[in-house]
Amino acid sequence: MADAYFFLFFLLPLLLLVVLYFLVKPRPVKIPIKNRHVFITGGSSGIGLSLAHRAAAEGARVSILARSLGKLEEARNAIRLVTGIEVAVFAADVRDFEAVKRAVDEAGPIDVLLLNHGVFVALELEKMELSEIKFTMDVNLMGTLNLIKAALPAMKNRKDPLPASIALVSSQAGQAGIYGYVAYSASKFGLRGLAEALQQEVIADNIHVSLIFPPDTDTPGLAEENRRKPELTKIIAASSGCMTAEKVAQKALDGIKSGSFIVSCNLEGIALSLATAGLSPQRSFLMAFVEVVAAGILRIVALGMQWTWYGSIEKYHSQRKGKCCTKGY
Ligand SMILES: NC(=O)c1ccc[n+]([C@@H]2O[C@H](COP(=O)([O-])OP(=O)(O)OC[C@H]3O[C@@H](n4cnc5c(N)ncnc54)[C@H](OP(=O)(O)O)[C@@H]3O)[C@@H](O)[C@H]2O)c1
Repeated sequence: MADAYFFLFFLLPLLLLVVLYFLVKPRPVKIPIKNRHVFITGGSSGIGLSLAHRAAAEGARVSILARSLGKLEEARNAIRLVTGIEVAVFAADVRDFEAVKRAVDEAGPIDVLLLNHGVFVALELEKMELSEIKFTMDVNLMGTLNLIKAALPAMKNRKDPLPASIALVSSQAGQAGIYGYVAYSASKFGLRGLAEALQQEVIADNIHVSLIFPPDTDTPGLAEENRRKPELTKIIAASSGCMTAEKVAQKALDGIKSGSFIVSCNLEGIALSLATAGLSPQRSFLMAFVEVVAAGILRIVALGMQWTWYGSIEKYHSQRKGKCCTKGY
């Protein structure tokens, strides 16, 4: 009996660790940002502004891009006041490839391309105008592709032998579909496919992709979104809590610097990332070990979450309609 326990709880995990150590690819990498050029889209507000503050404070040369020049200049002044560092600002709409290309060319070769810009409206699909759906897809998905297309040639030809990074800010709504986020989840799930395929295309150029999954974060964007958010979205999304932009920026930059493909920001985020690891690259054999061991139990937790979410939807509709016409969810 003692031998069986020894095999099950010591030898088998040890063997798995050894196998995973040799199995995980791409291999681990560290991406320094000190004295390197970090280009942040959506860097004038919320998470992007906190990322710019933090990167500047860590000694990076920072450029920020957004549409409003006024907000960009406010951000530049705020960063100068706190860090004494001057960031470069570029006014462009990420949907406009020519404008984005001009900004990227003017900014010079990029070491860390941090694609944080994004728009989010929480609303049922049938209440959204087609123009709002297209706007969400164009900014979040096409805008990201525009930036990568514009910046990649110079990133590939950089003289700097150090590893470079392309980091995309997704959302926990890009890991799990949530009521009210049909368009937003579609755009953020799209970033995952983009990131997984892109990593394979740029690995030979020593460029490493990170995908960041923040939960609700206290930003001007969230305040705006909350004005129209459906009741059910609030109930379902509440389970992951709300973080400050500074904390999310810190987790994001730490994740980028450690070359992680998936970057989670809180405990629920880690569980979500483990549950949705799928075919994503994993550089850490320890995290790969946790993913393998936790897979079964996390599927049960995920089914429990679906049970809660569909229960909330059922309760909500039956309360509103005064009868239980929605049984059988
Ligand atoms: N806050 C949250 O709860 C939360 C949660 C998960 C994920 N996220 C993601 O985190 C990212 C940042 O969110 P946030 O809450 O910090 O948003 P935010 O406060 O609304 O800031 C958005 C930034 O993106 C820029 N931007 C928007 N549309 C643009 C466009 N078409 N072209 C260029 N720049 C554009 C904005 O500047 P201009 O308006 O001047 O262009 C601003 O600098 C987004 O990708 C969002 O999806 C946020």
